This record gives sequence, structure tokens and C-alpha cells, in this order.
Amino acid sequence: MNNDIERILYSEEELNKRMNEMAQEITAEYENDTPIVVPVMTGAMMFSSEMLKRMNFKLNVDIVKASSYVGSKSTGNVKLVQDVKSDVKGRRVILMEDIIDTGRTLKFLKELFEKRGAKSVEICAMLDKPETRVVDLHGDYIGFEAPDEFLVGYGLDYNGFYRNLPYIGVLKRSVYAVS
Ligand code: IMP
Ligand code: MG
Repeated sequence: MNNDIERILYSEEELNKRMNEMAQEITAEYENDTPIVVPVMTGAMMFSSEMLKRMNFKLNVDIVKASSYVGSKSTGNVKLVQDVKSDVKGRRVILMEDIIDTGRTLKFLKELFEKRGAKSVEICAMLDKPETRVVDLHGDYIGFEAPDEFLVGYGLDYNGFYRNLPYIGVLKRSVYAVS
């Protein structure tokens, strides 16, 4: 698995350090509220569990499952595969995502929760690829700005693989290039 990685972009140590800082910022903003943290599965699984351990105040966790990706290309079509169980009306919502790419997934989810009457909807993402954005969407808490390359690890996958890498790396082109 590690042989398929061209280079490591963010090591586990760097990710830990950045998550400590982000969690502090989020705690300062939310510790007197009771927000609903909504990890976007499956990509945000590792990032959100690490972030949640660092958020030492009362909150709810309720997942959604969305999909817009097939292979290494965004299809532009966001599907809600699994919805939250909670009523978000009047609540503050924090969407947690692995990466913001085109921005379509999070724009769709943000608008969905706003329509349902959430008091606020903020976005916390481990990575942001600002160069590839196609819709108007900004993240409120961003781990790192990432280059326009195909990344895997720490939840990020290629056809379901590499999510379990404890770092974020650039996938070798030869792994996903069509011959
Ligand atoms: P968006 O709707 O285009 O912003 O897509 C966000 C989703 O695309 C993320 O949740 C990821 O699942 C996926 N994605 C975007 N860029 C990458 C990447 O570099 N590697 C793996 N998945 C990615
Ligand atoms: Mg995803």
C-alpha cells in the first residue's frame, strides 16, 4: 500500500498539531452551545474522530453519508446516501469533512441544514483545494490548503482503498491513470 504513494504531504505529527489548534478554535466558539457535529462519511471518519476527542464540551454527533465521486473524478452529482437522525431546527451544526474540492458536497449539505432551520451551519475540513472550486463555498475551519493533486490517506480513498493510511499522501499517477 505504501508503495503506491508518491510522497507524503502531511505526516501524522503535522496533522495532530494542526488538529490541536483547530479544536481549540472550535472549542472557544462552541463550548457554551450544544452543537451537532455532522461528520460526512466515509471520508471524514478518521479526521472527525480525532477532532471529537479534542473537543471537550457537550455536543451531539450525527453522521451523514454523501457521495459525488467515482474513481478520481467528481461527477458533479451529490447524493445523500444516509441522512442524520436529529432534528437540526434551532441547533448549531458543524459539518466535518475530509476535503473541500469542487465544494458541491458541502454546499449541498449546508443548504440542506439551513433549509431545515439550523441556527448556524459551519464547515470544518481537514483539507481545502481552493483551485478546484466550482461553486461558491468557504470553509470556516481548515486544516491545510492542499495542492490540486489526488490525495489519499487519513480517510481519503481511491476506490475505497488507502483510507487507513495514518498520513496524507499523493497517490502515484500510475495507480489511477487509465491505460
Ligand atoms: P466536492 O463535492 O467536489 O467538494 O468533493 C468532496 C469529496 O470529494 C470529498 O469528500 C472526497 O471524498 C472527494 N475528494 C476530493 N478530492 C479528493 C482527493 O484528492 N482524494 C480523495 N478524495 C477526494
Ligand atoms: Mg467524502
